[in-house]
Amino acid sequence: MYTVPKLDNYSPDALDRAVADLLSALDNEIAALHSEADWKTFRDRWLARKNGVLTQINDTWLKAAPGPAKRDVGQRVNDLRQRVTDRVEQQKRPDATIHVSGVQVGSFVGSMTMPALRASGTIVSIPRLDISLPGIQRPIGVKHPVLRVMDEIVAVFKAMGYSVGEGPEVETDYYNFESLNFPPNHPARDTQDTLFIAGQEGKPPRDRLLLRTHTSPVQIRTMEKHPPPLRIVIPGKVHRNDPLDATHSPLFHQVEGLAVDTNITFCDLKGTLDHAMKALFGSSVKTRFYPSFFPFTEPSADMQVSCIFCGGKGCRTCKFSGWIELLGCGMVDPNVFDFVKDNGYDSSKISGFAFGMGPDRIALLKYGVEGLQPFFEGDVRFLEQFA
Ligand code: DAH
Repeated sequence: MYTVPKLDNYSPDALDRAVADLLSALDNEIAALHSEADWKTFRDRWLARKNGVLTQINDTWLKAAPGPAKRDVGQRVNDLRQRVTDRVEQQKRPDATIHVSGVQVGSFVGSMTMPALRASGTIVSIPRLDISLPGIQRPIGVKHPVLRVMDEIVAVFKAMGYSVGEGPEVETDYYNFESLNFPPNHPARDTQDTLFIAGQEGKPPRDRLLLRTHTSPVQIRTMEKHPPPLRIVIPGKVHRNDPLDATHSPLFHQVEGLAVDTNITFCDLKGTLDHAMKALFGSSVKTRFYPSFFPFTEPSADMQVSCIFCGGKGCRTCKFSGWIELLGCGMVDPNVFDFVKDNGYDSSKISGFAFGMGPDRIALLKYGVEGLQPFFEGDVRFLEQFA
């Protein structure tokens, strides 16, 4: 077995010989490896920090080298360190595994192929595959609870003849704010903590990009493409500059709705939403509408449902009021129609209602989850409860 010699001659020739001896000793030891246990002992002999061969050459060759030879010896020792480490690591073959379509279905036993055996022509024990082992099953995923609620909401409106629309999450200032009757610099913009895309200063203000703060911009995008009459629901992701806590998240979901036709009134809005809430929460649920403000609706309202936990008697969830606020809605403001007047939206002839609701919050209520966080953390232990 190789032992590191002391050097008394530091000439380049003598160093070349010492290096060559060491490498051939390394090869001999590699050829003698027969098992993973052999390999581990071999690895420790060469690489161990304490007294491995590499440490020894550092101590006996480099540290002892006279001043003028230090540089040359240092380079050779460094080079050897790299080569020896690589050679040692190369000898380890991980246990081979068998994959079918990316799923591990079995593993070989005794997978080390020893150069010595290969070279000598000895019959190497062929890796065995135990086909009696059970395969690894890939669990079938389920729909995320928030998506499930979104799909339910969409289905309720589809049944009333609504179509489904979508729009981009990276939106322009024009669609997210201006065309929804939030004039530039209007304080109503402050109610939606907006994440702006950087580097937009060179563009005219209305073309600057941001992450949409609500799904309402898809109202305008849809009206630009389709003349009235219109009935559409728009599920999607929205973003705001809010840190994640029990009731806020920088990413959340909305389902927007818009109906435009001749003679649409506030009664249609109330009837439609009341029906939708009964379809979602059960026929005993009641709705009520409170005056509110949104720039793109006039009049605007917040809709509340009677508490689905206590039926209106008062409990912790409804803060003992008997009611839970669930969405914003209102009659489309004529100023909004003015932005799409050229496509047939003449506010003297047509009218409409709109609403926007948060499926994340509805999912909290429906499934009795305490805070929003688990919806966005991707922890399977939480998610598999919905399987
Ligand atoms: N876009 C509003 C928000 O995110 C929600 C909303 C309120 C949407 C009233 C509407 C509406 O369409 O009519 O706060």
